[in-house]
Amino acid sequence: MIYKYVFGQPIETQAVVMEVPKSEHELSVMKVEVQEDAIRLSCQMGDEDVVFGLGEQVRGMNKRGFSYISNATDDPRHTENKHSLYGAHNFLILNRAEKTKDESGNRTFGIFVDDPGTVIFDVGETRMEDLVITAGADCVIYVIEGESLKDIVKQFRKLIGRSYIAPKWAFGYQQSRWSYMTEDEVREVVDGHRKNGIPLDAVYLDIDYMERYKDFTVNQETFPNFKEFTSEMKEQSIHLVPIIDAGVKIEEGYPVYEEGIRENYFCKDEDGEDFVAAVWPGKVHFPDVLNSKARAWFGEKYRFLMEQGIDGFWNDMNEPAIFYSEKNLKKVLEELEGMKGKNLDLNAFFHMTDLVAKLSNNPLDYQSFYHDMDGVRIRHDRVHNLYGFNMTRAASEAFDQIEPEKRTLLFSRSSYIGMHRYGGIWTGDNNAWWGQLLLSIQQMPALNMCGILYTGSDIGGFGSDTTEDLLMRWLEFAMFTPLMRNHAAMGTRHQEVYQFEHMDVFRNLIRMRYGLLPYIYSEYMKAVLNDEMYFRPLAFDYPEDEQAYRVEDQLLVGESIMIAPVYTQNAKGRYVYLPEDMLMVRMKSLEERVCEVVERGHYYMDMALDEVVIFVRKNYMLPLAVLDEDVRSTSDVNEDQLEWIGYTEDVAEYVLYNDDGTSRKYTPESEWEKIRLTKEEFDF
Ligand code: GLC
Repeated sequence: MIYKYVFGQPIETQAVVMEVPKSEHELSVMKVEVQEDAIRLSCQMGDEDVVFGLGEQVRGMNKRGFSYISNATDDPRHTENKHSLYGAHNFLILNRAEKTKDESGNRTFGIFVDDPGTVIFDVGETRMEDLVITAGADCVIYVIEGESLKDIVKQFRKLIGRSYIAPKWAFGYQQSRWSYMTEDEVREVVDGHRKNGIPLDAVYLDIDYMERYKDFTVNQETFPNFKEFTSEMKEQSIHLVPIIDAGVKIEEGYPVYEEGIRENYFCKDEDGEDFVAAVWPGKVHFPDVLNSKARAWFGEKYRFLMEQGIDGFWNDMNEPAIFYSEKNLKKVLEELEGMKGKNLDLNAFFHMTDLVAKLSNNPLDYQSFYHDMDGVRIRHDRVHNLYGFNMTRAASEAFDQIEPEKRTLLFSRSSYIGMHRYGGIWTGDNNAWWGQLLLSIQQMPALNMCGILYTGSDIGGFGSDTTEDLLMRWLEFAMFTPLMRNHAAMGTRHQEVYQFEHMDVFRNLIRMRYGLLPYIYSEYMKAVLNDEMYFRPLAFDYPEDEQAYRVEDQLLVGESIMIAPVYTQNAKGRYVYLPEDMLMVRMKSLEERVCEVVERGHYYMDMALDEVVIFVRKNYMLPLAVLDEDVRSTSDVNEDQLEWIGYTEDVAEYVLYNDDGTSRKYTPESEWEKIRLTKEEFDF
């Protein structure tokens, strides 16, 4: 059941697609306090109650013990003390343990706070037992009750609409780096993979492909024949994926800028002038993507690249990130001027460094510009979390016109619930630290709860220099994430896998992904079409098992398998909890597999650096594609040649979904194939 509660006069966010009548009863699962400028919801949590959700945030799968603030922020240090990352995913489930239910009668529930401004989820930080949610005074709150965690998520997902479907090639391995400067550099990357037999489907073009960081331009010196280059790459089965940034450079003669000015498509400051911020190109204006005309205009601009053969994009800096605003910089520089020649004591010195540090992403700047939401002027901070969503929606709605038959790859850095219908996300600027690999594992199910299924993290870590072992372990996890992209920041160690000594191991790992493709694609599509989660914490499938709620570093992936990735330095193995008997499949390569049935229980298991261990659930099965030696990309995977791994004492069944991977017409009956195997028929 979904109950809807409306407070004040909420802004229409488009997060929800289903009509839900207002509830006739009062909200009862949490105590509600209507304050002058806020709504405060609170309840007590029992010792064993667990909180899942909140999407892209730091810390564990069980969110208890910290506060999370929905306030989309460009922060490249995803450390444990951070309250906000790039997304705003205001959905959580409070799972009541049996004990709490018995003692207090409290029920498990999901809650979605539809408020595009700042929302605070204090999940036991201030007081360990208290869950307190503070939203703005104008918001809509949905409470969802259901039979199980899975059921609550499914209802929520129906409420917010079907998730974005990526083209199948976007499930291949992808290589990125901030600083592939020229066509030749991109060719080198492709060759590096091709000549070493490492499959690859896409190379990303970061900001350097543009002419001085101007959206919808191509640098004519470094990429002189872009259209030919795109088709040259396509001939090698490589898709080029350019970045698009939110800010439009202020420059006379630049058509995107001039049109935006002429048509009044940019966000305005207090005085009604176009708001001036600065990002990569220096001073920019922000297209007012919350305005339907401006949104359509900005989306249409993607055509320029699509006409040159581009069929995938990543939208960035769309929190929107602000290096500085023109007005604030002026003030700060004046103040600094006054400090010249002064003897700065402790306070004065820190004040000075603070002034500079707080130039970027300053809350005051977000309070100083406005949107025209189709006739209604709204201050940005009130709708801050909708910006990335609507930039991505702009692109997606334009693709419906420009390329109505074909799927286009699209994902974003910033997001709000609802954006999952238009594109995926990547988890932004992580670091090459072991803890960030664990974070990525823990973020995946929380994102899936919110409908964000096409997602993954920068493999190897974006910031800092990666190490060979970290990159290997990361790939061993990321071979299961729908978005499997190796990306790194400018100035860091090169982390294309062919740069390393043990290239054979990397080749095996990436080939495993291509072997897993039929399963990964099938499970991703099933999760999309059935409103389910592709990655799940153990508790979702083993709700009766108290121990399952405590597992923070293992995941169910699709219906058949569980993974327990290694995420610590120098580890030769790890502890694993098996919630039921499973088939352990140990793989050094697709072809070198050792299988063994392991009983339910706790184990320390060896997992060498070059090994992937997959646990197949009893009576379920895992299809693996048999790959030719020279598989280069997803289009070379022969999906008719499958091996089946699994075990049963009787019969196991699996529904395999497949389609052409490019057209937008999914779900024809014929594409669901039911496989039924008896004990003797498995290939393990
Ligand atoms: C941002 C993005 C990162 C990109 C960089 C340069 O930091 O998150 O992925 O490489 O900008 O465009």
